[in-house]
Amino acid sequence: MNNTTDRPMVIQFYCDGEPFPGINGEPVAMSLWRSGVTTLGWNEVTGDPRGLYCAIGHCFECRMMIDGVRDQRACLYPVREGLEVFRQTVPTGLGEP
Ligand code: FES
Repeated sequence: MNNTTDRPMVIQFYCDGEPFPGINGEPVAMSLWRSGVTTLGWNEVTGDPRGLYCAIGHCFECRMMIDGVRDQRACLYPVREGLEVFRQTVPTGLGEP
């Protein structure tokens, strides 16, 4: 929440280089979900899409590269202005650098 109002503070962050809106402090996965991004990465073996499963930090299905560190749990990591996140194990060349 913003200290000067009761309204949430809307910020901009980046996923795979594209800008997305978020609410400061909410989990990265929630911000992406609200914008229609439900695939947070791809299975390293099968290539199947991965996304939110437990949403409480237990399953690691939401792992993304966040702040330059691989395998961060997007369901727990707080979004902030300018944050850069990348989807991992991208079969088409999109996503992580
Ligand atoms: S969705 Fe299970 S750890 Fe994030």
